[in-house]
Amino acid sequence: FSLLGLNTFGVAEETAFFTSVSSVAEVQQLIKEEVYQSHPSMMLGGGSNVLFTERYEGLVVQNQIRGRELLQEDEEHVWVKVGAGEVWHDFVLYCIEQNWAGVENMSLIPGSVGAAPIQNIGAYGVELKDVFESLEAVEVESGELKTFHHADCEFGYRDSIFKRWAKGKFIIVNVTFKLNKRPNFNTTYGAIQQTLEEQGVRELSLKAIAEAVIHIRQSKLPDPAEIGNGGSFFKNPVISTALFESLQQDYPQMGGYPAGVGKVKIAAGFLIDQAGWKGYREGNIGVHEKQALVLVNFGGNNGKAIYQLAKKIQASVLEKFGVEIEPEVNII
Ligand code: EPU
Repeated sequence: FSLLGLNTFGVAEETAFFTSVSSVAEVQQLIKEEVYQSHPSMMLGGGSNVLFTERYEGLVVQNQIRGRELLQEDEEHVWVKVGAGEVWHDFVLYCIEQNWAGVENMSLIPGSVGAAPIQNIGAYGVELKDVFESLEAVEVESGELKTFHHADCEFGYRDSIFKRWAKGKFIIVNVTFKLNKRPNFNTTYGAIQQTLEEQGVRELSLKAIAEAVIHIRQSKLPDPAEIGNGGSFFKNPVISTALFESLQQDYPQMGGYPAGVGKVKIAAGFLIDQAGWKGYREGNIGVHEKQALVLVNFGGNNGKAIYQLAKKIQASVLEKFGVEIEPEVNII
């Protein structure tokens, strides 16, 4: 079964088995089946954060659990439960329509609602953890539906328990968000303020912020419908303050954000760019010309080649700056 069309890199690797689930009951049924029990398996949401580099000798399960439900509301907040298979950006647009604030800065992030907590997606100063209330997941071993509250998930930068010990042990079926009825606009990150001014926005609104974010993303990030990609390929590395200060001597324009005692988070895109990779192309793969953090596939079954390019970039950044950068994308 070809995975083409199911991953935003546009890679055409195959999987031995494929199925989809559209309810909790279907998940609970699937995990009892022989094909599930006797093969490795992986859940797929929007396929926007995965690079297939070879045939997958297992079962790929596409999550198609839909639905949105308003659970509760008070003066200030709403709690809304969303099926894991819903498209993230559709959910963002729905919230804006309802005038529910909190996710507007995360407009246009590709992928599904159920995948969002796994790596604690984030953009333009807001992370999923800022609006997360809880999630429900089927425990593979027991088939039971378990609830994970905020603290249980141990969210970090592009990180949660679902990338660590809980990986593969639970199938996320829905996520509950806590959103604000009174918006708390966050326009401090990077180009948002400037974009709002350029767009002539006089009065802030959720829609205006979403439009600014969409504009910024579209100007920097390739549209997977046109050029295959998985968003940022690498995570932004956290380095020691000492290394940061010594690098800043050579690269005064290098920015950094405090990331705990004696540590600074720096932009991997900056390092890759400075190492000369931005706009690099070899055959039908390369590094996006407007954002060096994004590896692109111009067409063809190039998963393995992209992975090899990523390794070359890692080695080059390590050699030039003494900094290790790790993939953000899941490599299969
Ligand atoms: N930069 C360069 N050259 C480049 C790219 C970036 O010099 O080619 C510099 C920029 O000038 C800027 C800094 O690096 O000073 C940071 O760049 P940017 O604001 O574009 O953000 P980023 O750190 O590269 C992160 C996320 C994105 C998210 C943006 C906006 C990660 C791995 N990536 O990128 O997330 O949209 O911030 O919040 O944290 C994703 O995860 O797939 C993703 C796209």
